[in-house]
Amino acid sequence: MKRLLLYLLALVPYLSFAQFADAKWIGSDQYMLYSNYLPQFRISWTVQLDKKSDRLAVLFGGNDPRLMNSNMNILGVECGKDESYIKLELDAASHRLNIWRIGYTQKGRELLKSFETGNIDFYDRHAIEAHCCLGSADILLDGRKLGDVVLNPMGKGGDYIAFPQLASIGYEMEVGQWATIHSMEVRNFRSPYAVLYDYNAGRKIIRKIGNKKKTVRVLINPSHGTMPLLRCQFALKQKPVKNATLTAAARGIYKATLNGQRVGNEYYAPGISQYNKTHYYQQYDVTEMLEKENSLYVQLAEGWWAGGMTFSGGNWNYFGDQLAFIGRLMVRYEDGDSTVITTQPDSWEVCNLSKVTYASMFQGEVYDNTVTEDQWRKASEMTLEGHLPIEGGGTQPKVDDYSSFRMEKATTQVGLHAKLQAKSVNEVRPGVYVYDMGQNMAGFPRVTIRNLREGQQVTFRYAEVLYPDLPEYEEYKGTLMLENIRAAMAQDIFISNGDSYEVFTPDMTLHGYRYIEITGINEPLSLSDVEGMVVSSIDRFTADFECSNPLVNRLWQNIQWSMLANFISMPTDCPQRNERMGWSGDISVFSRTAVNMADVDAFLRKHMQAIRDVQTPEGRFPDIAPIGGGFGGLLWGSAGITVPWECWLQYADRDILEEHYEAMKAYIDYVDSHYFDAATGLLVQERQWGDLGDWLGLEDGKNDKTLLFEAYYIYDLDIMRQTAMLLGKDADAKRYERRLKKRKQFFVDTYIDQETGKTVFSAFDPNRKGQPIDIQGSYVLPLAFNIVEGSLRQKMVERLVESIERENTTDNGVRCPFYSLMTGFITTAWISRVLSDNGRSDLAYRLLQQEQYPSWLYPVTQGATTIWERLNSYTHTAGFGGNNSMNSFNHYSFGAVGQWLINRCLGIERDETKPGFQHFILRPEPDPTGKMTFARGHLDTCYGRIESSWQRHSDGIVSYHFVVPDGTYATLVMPDKSPLELKPGTYNY
Ligand code: BGC
Repeated sequence: MKRLLLYLLALVPYLSFAQFADAKWIGSDQYMLYSNYLPQFRISWTVQLDKKSDRLAVLFGGNDPRLMNSNMNILGVECGKDESYIKLELDAASHRLNIWRIGYTQKGRELLKSFETGNIDFYDRHAIEAHCCLGSADILLDGRKLGDVVLNPMGKGGDYIAFPQLASIGYEMEVGQWATIHSMEVRNFRSPYAVLYDYNAGRKIIRKIGNKKKTVRVLINPSHGTMPLLRCQFALKQKPVKNATLTAAARGIYKATLNGQRVGNEYYAPGISQYNKTHYYQQYDVTEMLEKENSLYVQLAEGWWAGGMTFSGGNWNYFGDQLAFIGRLMVRYEDGDSTVITTQPDSWEVCNLSKVTYASMFQGEVYDNTVTEDQWRKASEMTLEGHLPIEGGGTQPKVDDYSSFRMEKATTQVGLHAKLQAKSVNEVRPGVYVYDMGQNMAGFPRVTIRNLREGQQVTFRYAEVLYPDLPEYEEYKGTLMLENIRAAMAQDIFISNGDSYEVFTPDMTLHGYRYIEITGINEPLSLSDVEGMVVSSIDRFTADFECSNPLVNRLWQNIQWSMLANFISMPTDCPQRNERMGWSGDISVFSRTAVNMADVDAFLRKHMQAIRDVQTPEGRFPDIAPIGGGFGGLLWGSAGITVPWECWLQYADRDILEEHYEAMKAYIDYVDSHYFDAATGLLVQERQWGDLGDWLGLEDGKNDKTLLFEAYYIYDLDIMRQTAMLLGKDADAKRYERRLKKRKQFFVDTYIDQETGKTVFSAFDPNRKGQPIDIQGSYVLPLAFNIVEGSLRQKMVERLVESIERENTTDNGVRCPFYSLMTGFITTAWISRVLSDNGRSDLAYRLLQQEQYPSWLYPVTQGATTIWERLNSYTHTAGFGGNNSMNSFNHYSFGAVGQWLINRCLGIERDETKPGFQHFILRPEPDPTGKMTFARGHLDTCYGRIESSWQRHSDGIVSYHFVVPDGTYATLVMPDKSPLELKPGTYNY
């Protein structure tokens, strides 16, 4: 019985699902390779020196186009053909294997390492291998690792522009040296190590290499194949069609066209998920698109399934190494009859030479318009067997566990949110045109190109910022700053078919950018020909805000733009660099702003599924979801508790709590059993670097991290208590309540000096125990989560106020002005609310309207059009301040102040006892400092639009305007007035 069960479980991935009837996952059984964009690989040669010779070399990373054009690198090189490569040189005379880097830097030839080969017979056959991943390589001889070497001149690891790519490969023989090459093979770096290129390709070719008179250097580009294109041609019966539905999903992403028309209006379908657990599918009504004779085409691309994923190069082909599609078209006729087309290897064909040569989320899209797409053969059924990686990526769960796999209909989609047009163009070097979209965005361009010659190649690169006019960047002034895109290639290529008019829309990749560099064109394109397709899972905003301070207005827009760019199928940290991951800490702090800004209930519910899908068996919530693993700890994992709670309060979505409750409970159990130190009772987590505190806070080093952990744990417990009550789990509720009380007391006893109300260090760092912490980031959470009551709370508020009103010094010793924002990702989200809750909205306004660094508006004064990862990601005076690589210009976390603008400045605040705006509070707080003179805005709820505005007139009198929509009511709380109940209607005071 057990065996039968196991057998059935093993079959799960290969089985089809009810929605798909007998449809099969189909695709191409051939691998493709685009070597100029492949930064991870295993390459091996079997070679044999001739008796009279003592030196042979094998090559890879050759002729990388970026090294052959000085505009395409910041290494200062421009190599001719066959002048740049990595060379592994077997030297029999000195018994060494030398690793050379040629043409990658201005030094020209660099000997990077030299390994002793030991006692081998050089005239035997030898296998030389390099396992290369984002510029670091292990070097092997006959299967034995000789050592490792960093090949990338930019730096080590995924934080740098990645060199080398596989690019061209081959061998080199000096004059008069002879050898035999038996094989040359390229495989994927990560299991299942598919063969991507085989020099002999099944044939037994033994090549004698060498030349009496000259050095022989052979570099071949091993690229072949393209992204698979599938098609099915079918006829309908000659009778009226009632309706037709296409159900579709892909391993990878797909784009379907029926009779030449695009099916649906979404991008990157089926969207990301933890595919081995929950795989989404789409359903499209295609009734109007059908004809008598039909052709259905499906273009596949890597998406999040294959190719580059996460900041670690070893995670290539994260979910599998082959793409596939599954679909079912159900056509119903008026008379009850039907035609059903499902994906089957017999009735579908595949083309391995499509126009989409390559398309990857990180690397970009290569589109060859000269291709005619006329080579078709039978499609293959694609099982997962042999196509799944067997290792997890570090702390991430393995993805070959399909034991609880299910397919679900998608409830969200990525659509076109807006179209931008380039604002200006600058020819920064001869023939190098940089277009400014005027706005940092995520998506892809739509470029109209005219009158190119057939085969002409146009290259597109994308950046958030340009190198400024500062001495240290002098030679690059005005060109793209790509260092912060790191190991993502983010480059598109278009090859013209010579038509007088072509449109390039690389919609199977995603870029985060403001600037596009276009090269390879004959003359600059007109601005109207360079459009920016802004895509997002958010189709419209539910909130708007405007006030008298234009910088704050820009801040608000920046929050909106960063939200758009980071709500693309999953809530990401950033949309541009080789990361773009569902970091839990970021969405946890941003969620309250998010639920106000847009209707993200379905989106976040999907995300909670992702969190559950990668929750560890012990209950730990991930720092990243989907994918899992990462680092962060409790302040990150708490997203699994805070986010569903926000959805409940904002949308009265009880289902999300029902669905998620057991997972939340398991998480708390995990924290309880793993994170506490028995001796001190402190919540210490894992005592590792990865237990992050107030991430990117300027004084985070002065904080006691355990204070932050404990405070969030208390908040989590409070949410658990309320959730349990709501769901009728009384015993749980009581348990959480007791625990909550205890931990609050523990917090007060441990972290607060009763006398002064100052925060103090716990025994976590025994040397500092009892000493004052006394920084902004230490006061915010205990106040936000009501951990401290009564007079002690009052004292703490005073201490917080002092910490804002004084000059503070950053961990790096920078002295900051009065009223600086010293908080990091975690506490920034709450500081303004805490000030308002405690009668100090004046300070909240001062912090908000502070323009000097560090503040929210400082980036705005420096030209920000989105929220930056650092409050000083860029400054006019110090440029990127040395943070060229970990420096995103599109990170919503510091934008968590958005909630305060709606909830406090406009004062549209939910009533937590009546979730979903069944009743709400109107509590506008006009700027007591007088600097902001008006604010107006709205929030759309399921009852309709709530409006609120206030204006301070020159005589100091403030007037108010409110609209309470039908079906709900509000309590108006105004400064110095007793509360008023407002029924639906319009009010002016
Ligand atoms: C991400 C953050 C994330 C953090 C976790 C960064 O690389 O961009 O936003 O929360 O890592 O430490």
